[in-house]
Amino acid sequence: MKAGDLLQSAYHRILPADLRGRLGFGSLLSRWRDRREHRLVGTLACHAPFSSGDVQQRCALTLDAAAHCYDDLLHFIEIQSPGWRENRIIAITDDGDPRCQALGECFRAAGSDKASAHAYHLLYGKALKEPASVAQLLEIGIGTTNPRIVSNMTEKGVPGASLRAWRNWLPTATIHGADIDQAILFEVFRIHTYFVDQLDRNALQTLLGQLPPVLDVIIDDGLHSASANLRSIEAFLKRCRPTGWMFVEDIYDPQVSFFLVLSWILARMGIESCLYRFSRPGMVFAISPGRPLELFPA
Ligand SMILES: C[S@@+](CC[C@H](N)C(=O)[O-])C[C@H]1O[C@@H](n2cnc3c(N)ncnc32)[C@H](O)[C@@H]1O
Repeated sequence: MKAGDLLQSAYHRILPADLRGRLGFGSLLSRWRDRREHRLVGTLACHAPFSSGDVQQRCALTLDAAAHCYDDLLHFIEIQSPGWRENRIIAITDDGDPRCQALGECFRAAGSDKASAHAYHLLYGKALKEPASVAQLLEIGIGTTNPRIVSNMTEKGVPGASLRAWRNWLPTATIHGADIDQAILFEVFRIHTYFVDQLDRNALQTLLGQLPPVLDVIIDDGLHSASANLRSIEAFLKRCRPTGWMFVEDIYDPQVSFFLVLSWILARMGIESCLYRFSRPGMVFAISPGRPLELFPA
């Protein structure tokens, strides 16, 4: 049965005849649609025309404005700074670098998808070319297999896989992991884990209080939404060593404009950043608080 037919049959079963006489099915449906669209215009009020007019038209205009918001901002930036987009997207290919190959092997052996579904080892192997100099690493996203949690690794995942790979790759570093799933937190030699909800600024502050004052590497492999990424950058960037790195993983094409706008804002604050593209899916946004762009791996 189609959704419309189902609603119509519910209408006849639930509403008493006298009410049906006053409220036809069509008018009830259009009232319900109007309410839903009013709600959407209210939720996305920042993008809605602050004007009178038909709610369905205002709803369509609101969605259109929200969908193009970062593309429009990036377009505006490109007029001020021509070439911004091209200079801030770096393609990384496999040049056979033995450090990258060894790190890739570490990820695969531990059961992390960073060097199988993705090719992030090609960047990390170059950016962290002196593994012994990394003292403190934080990764948000431990790798739950719980299907009810968004951004889970499916039942094939191995919770803590990337944390173990980092421990094997960085001979003296302490590895910190944080996740919204309390059930997968664990403590073993050189690995500590904590609860965090990256969408919750208070929870991020609580996590900051549990971590050492300076971090060499921060990786965001958590929820993978722009707003979770931004709140984590806001919380952790000030803790990152000037020569250190913050990496945001698993960025896909529709998010590119958002990150290029963010990169422009960071540059105005004197902080360089760029987007890395690979031959496999997923891009990485890299920020280094005190490093000039010429010293980013290319
Ligand atoms: C892709 S998995 C991490 C995989 C792991 N880093 C690896 O490479 O083996 C993403 C993780 O983000 C966590 N997550 C989802 N939403 C979150 C949130 N709001 N705050 C913190 N973690 C979250 C999930 O529970 C999941 O464990």
